Amino acid sequence: FILSVRFCSSQTYVLDDKLGLGRVFDGIGGLSGGGATSRLLVNYAEPYRSQILDYLFKPNFGASLHMLKVEIGGDAQTTDGTEPSHMHYENDENYFRGYEWWLMKEAKKRNPNIILIGLPWAFPGWVGHGKNWPYDFPDITAEYVVKWILGAKMYHDLDIQYVGVWNERSYDSKYIKLLRYTLDKNGLEWVKIIASDNLWEPIAFSLLLDSELSSAVDVIGAHYPGTTTVKEALQTEKKLWSSEDYSTFNDEVGGGCWARILNQNYVNGNMTATISWNLVASYYEELPFGRDGLMTAEEPWSGNYVVESPIWITAHTTQFTQPGWTYLQTVGHLVDGGSYVALTDGKGNLTIVIETMTHNHSVCIRPPLPPFNLTSQNATFQLKGSFAFIKELQVWRSQFNFKTNKPSFFEKLKPLKLLDGSFTLNLAEDEVYTLTTITTAQKGGYPDPPPSARFPKAYKDNFNTPNPLFSEAPYFADQTGVFEYYRNLTDPGLHIFTLRQVVTQRPVTWVADADQTISVIGDYQWQDLTVICDVFIERMYTGGVFIAARVNKGGESVRSAKGVFFWVFADGTYKVTNDLEGQTVLAEGKSGTRAYGWYTLSLTVNGQYASGSLNGYTLWKNAVILNPKNGWAAIGTQSFELAQFDNFAVVAD
Ligand code: GAL
Ligand code: CA
Repeated sequence: FILSVRFCSSQTYVLDDKLGLGRVFDGIGGLSGGGATSRLLVNYAEPYRSQILDYLFKPNFGASLHMLKVEIGGDAQTTDGTEPSHMHYENDENYFRGYEWWLMKEAKKRNPNIILIGLPWAFPGWVGHGKNWPYDFPDITAEYVVKWILGAKMYHDLDIQYVGVWNERSYDSKYIKLLRYTLDKNGLEWVKIIASDNLWEPIAFSLLLDSELSSAVDVIGAHYPGTTTVKEALQTEKKLWSSEDYSTFNDEVGGGCWARILNQNYVNGNMTATISWNLVASYYEELPFGRDGLMTAEEPWSGNYVVESPIWITAHTTQFTQPGWTYLQTVGHLVDGGSYVALTDGKGNLTIVIETMTHNHSVCIRPPLPPFNLTSQNATFQLKGSFAFIKELQVWRSQFNFKTNKPSFFEKLKPLKLLDGSFTLNLAEDEVYTLTTITTAQKGGYPDPPPSARFPKAYKDNFNTPNPLFSEAPYFADQTGVFEYYRNLTDPGLHIFTLRQVVTQRPVTWVADADQTISVIGDYQWQDLTVICDVFIERMYTGGVFIAARVNKGGESVRSAKGVFFWVFADGTYKVTNDLEGQTVLAEGKSGTRAYGWYTLSLTVNGQYASGSLNGYTLWKNAVILNPKNGWAAIGTQSFELAQFDNFAVVAD
């Protein structure tokens, strides 16, 4: 007979600082935006909203993030919605729009040392002078971005420490130099520039060729680098960051992806910061990349949220290191798969993070993960140099336990006593260990939040909010254009407080925004329902607005959204279309509608039929709706034009 014996391998790894250290560690971060990924977070009631923020930012509690990167809103669609600009128009400046200011302040409240980073995805149309390009007038673009940084300080006392160029789009060397110059001119010499938030190349190559450009740029930020870098990037001697990464569904495989790349971005690619897209999945799950956040908070109406595995995987590094610590040179791969990193504060503290994520349990959304083998193994670590005399290490462990489906995350084990600076671990598959001299870590927790629930079937909003904390009304998720609370100073009283679409020119886009504006709300599963809203067209003769049901798309595919759209126009007509683009007309006729008058629209969809009324009188009925079968409710305008909405209500079956 054949006796097969598998020897569990055992290998020794030396951790030593005698020959010097590796690169300085810059931190682990989360990204809010790119876009509207925190949209629903702001609408959580207390105490749940604060609890979510604690899981993300509170030191020694949860993810305890070192960095927060936010989108510099550009009024355009940037993945899961639009984020408002601080300058909708050339002569407009307002630093109280959106929720990124609020988020940065909440993060800073919890961690005064949090590193703040800003990056534009899109720009208001005027920045490009009507062209879909931000570099024809680089001085305008630079002023626009620098104003955002100055506004952060002036109105919110937020110090933005890093700013980027244009997310995953072209960079322009002249613009980057001008941005540096404009920062310096405004007393922002200490704000560092990241370039180019895309691939390693061609930016690394440009930096090597152009010394003036090189002196303007502090960090090469690459996206989804698959843990590796390129020779030219190393040659620049710049800091290398994975300035956007992860974007993986946040189940346990997502956690495994995050565990693997947090270690291996340094081990393989010398990257000293990794930033997760996104920070928290706080957008309707049916929008693109649903649940690609460190945790999930997509139900403000119920208060339910989920602390997913990536939160605890983050904690394995963040709670035991700080930006400014230094990696040891002795980091690497384990012989039977997996990796280890070690960092020190230079004052005797040591943190070791080990991961043994198997291939199939650590696949990220991109790039493809080449095959590798990983088996359980014994690993002996021998501490040398300044660490030779460490007597005890704290031990924190996560076990994914894919087989039993009973994972255990961020568990504090008994401290390990060291003999002659050495210890041995029996590493199984799919584990993460932190061994450290740091004793302040905690697995934070709150009582379970309320149970998950669908969006309420009966919902209404009159927008009568005199001093709103946010510029957007609860749950409305703008997909093209920007809808803001508005105060009508001259209104006799019925419509003083309304919601207004304010983008009047097509932005310098990041993806293909629709030619119409649209904000969605509600439950994507809604089929039969009535949507009611008062509408007010502000564009004479050519303006138009709609209310809609069963809207089936948002995000970067918003242009091809289908649904039931009931439009009225300032030329005295109405239309019912099956699509946002208005190609498939189901009904049309006269409505008598004009600009500068309020009208009440009502749309009812029931099975295959839809009907609509104007000011309480049926205008059309029995329009046949074969598709889509379900989707969100929505409001919007026929072009980039001002329009107002009031007394929105929806009743779903
Ligand atoms: C990135 C982009 C993000 C988001 C993400 C989704 O390329 O910067 O805004 O779209 O992809 O995976
Ligand atoms: Ca109102």
